[in-house]
Parts: sequence; structure tokens; C-alpha cells
Amino acid sequence: MTWLITGGAGYIGSHVVRAMADHTSVVVLDDLSTGRAERLPAEVPLVRGSVLDREVVDRVLREHSVTGIVHIAGKKRVAESVDRPLYYYRENIEGLRVLLDAASDGGVDRFVFSSSAAVYGMPDVDLVTEETPCRPLSPYGETKLAGEWMVAAAGKAHGMATVSLRYFNVAGAASAELGDDGVFNLVPMVFERLTGNESPRVFGDDYATPDGTCVRDYIHVEDVATAHLAAAQRLLDDRSASLVLNIGRGQGVSVSEMVGVIQDVTGYPELKPVVEARRPGDPARVVAASDSISRELGWTSRHDIRAMVASAWDGWCLRHPDARR
Ligand code: WQD
Repeated sequence: MTWLITGGAGYIGSHVVRAMADHTSVVVLDDLSTGRAERLPAEVPLVRGSVLDREVVDRVLREHSVTGIVHIAGKKRVAESVDRPLYYYRENIEGLRVLLDAASDGGVDRFVFSSSAAVYGMPDVDLVTEETPCRPLSPYGETKLAGEWMVAAAGKAHGMATVSLRYFNVAGAASAELGDDGVFNLVPMVFERLTGNESPRVFGDDYATPDGTCVRDYIHVEDVATAHLAAAQRLLDDRSASLVLNIGRGQGVSVSEMVGVIQDVTGYPELKPVVEARRPGDPARVVAASDSISRELGWTSRHDIRAMVASAWDGWCLRHPDARR
């Protein structure tokens, strides 16, 4: 069978392509708005186009005899989604609707969807289970939650087995070339400060957490990729699956701890972090309960924080040759 991976030229998508292409035939649909064709192995076909373009989607499904879809394409910047909610609704919701419509018409019967811990908003539990109430705080999070509903509903109505995967804080890279280009998350933001000879910033140290800084569940992008492979394999034999699963390590790491590891790994220990105001909308603690995914898919994470930071740093240095190693 052939899997269509939308957004396969992106940071997370290209890791999923690598993990899946060893086991099955894959084709990528990516509009290359933020993706890069060089991230793909030469043998993987890339169709340049948007999931919003029904004609292109129909053509890919038909020409490649696609029977499963991993839908990763989408917009993912929380702050941008607050400024441009309708753009996010079009890209993430309308794009998904078009894709699901084409999938059901085209006889695709397996669908894996990229969701996010952003669906939970500000959870008030130590470990977030898939049953923890979802109260997204941004249009981005809303599009992911509504997307899960669409996937589950379309799956039931049209005989598609489905899995939505809620990513926690993704970091790291399988190789320097595959690293994240964006500077919108803690790890690259700290790299940017350190290599620009500026102190790393800590947004708030008065949260109700052990060291006062926010706690997150960081997960290596290679682990995220193997979770997709496990989900796809599950759908091969479970034709009635309708699953929603967290992808996290189940271990909380504070911003202070993370900055410490980054300074250690990069060899920039001299710039003392500065505490700045809280960033609006930041929850104090978001850490996954990861029992469901290990039970349902037999998946567990393999990489620790240092591996995430070290591999992200290799990618950063590749793209910033002035960075002192
Ligand atoms: C982590 C922590 C910051 C930079 C977001 C989305 C989430 C998911 C991952 C897509 C926070 C703090 C950051 C800095 C800091 N995205 N910070 N100094 O906000 O947990 O999650 O990205 O699916 O949906 O919400 O990630 O990496 O931006 O921040 O103190 O220079 O680091 O305040 O506490 P976040 P992040």
C-alpha cells in the first residue's frame, strides 16, 4: 500500500517520511511554504501543492493508488493564529475538510492526523490524559481540536480507521539537515540568544512549579516519527480504530532546567539567563500521560533531553556557520 504524507517536506513531516519510507511506499504532498524539498530522500516522490487544492489531492490519490494518509501539513504558530485566525481556520480546517472529502471519495480507509497538546489549553492536572478536558486557548489549538472531531466523524461515517496524535513539545533532529528552520520555540530561541551573545530569556519564574518556571514535556522528533509509523501499522489490521493519543515522554522539564542543558551542550555557559515577564497564555505545566500510546501502539520514547538539544544544535550550527562550537 502507499501512504500519502502531507507536509512531508516540513520539520516533523520529513522525519515521519524517513521513518515510514523504510517500511512502506510513501508519496509527499507539500506546498513548500515552509517545507524544503531537500529534506526528502531522492526516492520519495514529492508533489508540490496544497491540501486546499482538491484537483491536486484527487490526482495524487489516484496516480499513486493511495490507501492511507498521514496529514501533517498545517500552520502551527500559536501567536500568528491569534492575529490571523481565519487564515488558520482556512489552512488547518478547510484543508483537512478537503482532504477528508477526497479521501472518502477516493476510497482511502486509513487516516493519521497531527494534533497538538495545544488542545488542552491550561490543564490543571499533573499528567494530562486523553480524557483531560480540552479547552484550547488559541485559534491554533481550536483548529487542532476541531480537526480531531472532523477526523473521527468522517472516519466513522465513511469507514476510515483513524488516529489523532497530540504532539507535546517537539525538539531535536535525526540529522543536521533535517532540523527545524523556525525560531519560535524554546530551544532555537535560546540558541539564537546565545549565538547572538545575549542572555537567554526565561518568561516568568513565579509559576506554581518547583523552580517557578514553566514545565513542559519535550519529545524528540525521531520519537514523534516512530509514533506515526506505529499508528500507521496499527491501522493496517485495526479497521475500526478511532484513537486519540498523546505523544509525550511523561516527564516534566522546566524552562530553567532546559536552558541549563542547552548552555551545557552548546558550550555557552557564561551568559546568565534573565527573567522576563510571563508570556500571556502560557500554562504552568503541561506533561503527557503516555500510558495510552504505549498500550495502544506499543510505542515508547527513546531519546532524552540532551539528545534533543545536541541534535538540534548540530542543525543550528549547520545553518549558522558563525556559531562557536
Ligand atoms: C516552552 C516554554 C515559554 C522561549 C508551543 C505551542 C504548542 C506546540 C509547541 C505546536 C514556555 C518558555 C520560550 C524563551 C522561555 N506547538 N520560553 N524563553 O508554548 O509550550 O508550546 O509549541 O503544536 O502547541 O503552544 O512551547 O517552546 O514556545 O515554550 O522562557 O526564549 O519556554 O514561555 O514556558 P509552548 P515554547
